[in-house]
Amino acid sequence: MTIGRLEKLFRLSRPAMQAIIKNFRFEMAAGLSDKKSSLKMIPTYVEMPSGREKGKFIALDLGGTNFRVLELTLKGAHRSGEPRIMKFTLEKREINGTAEIFFDFIAESVKTFLNKHKISGAEELNLGFTFSFPIKQTGIASGILISWTKGFAASGVEGNDVVELLKEAFARKGIRNINISALVNDTVGTLVAKSYEDPGCDVGVIIGTGTNACYPEKLPEIKKWKGPQNKSGRMIINIEWGNFNKLTSTSFDRRLDKDSDNPGQQILEKMVSGMYLGSITGLVLKDMAAEGNLPLGLIQPLVKGKKFETEYMSIIEGDSTAGLKMTAKLLAGFGMAKTSAADRRVLKKVCGIVSRRAARISASCIAAIVLKIDPRLSVKHTIAIDGSVFEKHPTFAANMRKALKDLFGLKHSRIKLALAKDGSGKGAAIIAAVAAGAD
Ligand code: BGC
Repeated sequence: MTIGRLEKLFRLSRPAMQAIIKNFRFEMAAGLSDKKSSLKMIPTYVEMPSGREKGKFIALDLGGTNFRVLELTLKGAHRSGEPRIMKFTLEKREINGTAEIFFDFIAESVKTFLNKHKISGAEELNLGFTFSFPIKQTGIASGILISWTKGFAASGVEGNDVVELLKEAFARKGIRNINISALVNDTVGTLVAKSYEDPGCDVGVIIGTGTNACYPEKLPEIKKWKGPQNKSGRMIINIEWGNFNKLTSTSFDRRLDKDSDNPGQQILEKMVSGMYLGSITGLVLKDMAAEGNLPLGLIQPLVKGKKFETEYMSIIEGDSTAGLKMTAKLLAGFGMAKTSAADRRVLKKVCGIVSRRAARISASCIAAIVLKIDPRLSVKHTIAIDGSVFEKHPTFAANMRKALKDLFGLKHSRIKLALAKDGSGKGAAIIAAVAAGAD
């Protein structure tokens, strides 16, 4: 594989992006009607916030190995106080253990938080539970895990109501004053948190370890919705775009998918998210070295099973030193001691090609969602985006903006991509407030 061939293989031209938009919109419509679709289009029971929500709430924000417990005061009038936050880390024991081990650890962490902040057992509080996996919601505070993603594998959770599992763990740990009043996806939390302050925000996106998006949809458009009408006539739909599969894959993508925990699933996620981007780059590098386009020594650590992390791509692509010195240092630490500046430049190119495709796929899907909401792009839209890839990768956001410009020309400025850091916890608190009637 030469750089020239690689560029061609990973290139997403304007017509290719337009094809993604078309297919994505088709799959959105099918998913809303309960027809066969790679997009689950899950009704979340959540409406957009009014900004008047008030009170003190707890949020539990879990979507990766690091999770957070927060206490947040909503002041109404679109404002909230500074949250109090504690971070915890799940280990292999919990991720690969049983439902009981998993939820006991979470309940114990909530208990640690309540003790640390001296929240007494007499104080009754509502909790918003952000659980960022594909959940079939059965109510605002109930939902069944369809399948794990992002390498999670605890047994006894898939097919069960995660709120019930958390409630049982709270009971085992003697937590009696916390009422779980909302179950929320991180994209929904991100959208709600941002639109609490900015009513022009109508799409929530995560591009981090995993990737996904949500938006508010009119109830009559949600053909499969059998529930009652609501106040606003709209409901936020969790698209679960990570599973979108109408994309042109390369042999690298197919290899990565075949060797993954969940072959055939989360195809877009495997081309876009932080959990996989580094691995794709690793596969490309191995291939190039095997064909003599890079020194074999360069890939020794990869051959020995080390993972080429997505963070490396951020460092390499952000390296603007002459001779790529930061890259040399990174590679030396990784076990690739003797690299030439020319090899490092090839490496930087490879990273750029892989991450650029990811950014252009993400932008195309955002374009599809915005066009579903506003087919003529007649008003401005703020897209609230969180996640390590969007936040930390040096060219990802700019590549997304460029892709939108390629698609829409001047009108692209009507779509504003805004970093919405740590919104998912705050959003869960706002949703818990709505559910508890604190509006
Ligand atoms: C999950 C989504 C989640 C996304 C971002 C995906 O793997 O399926 O529910 O929103 O990761 O955390």
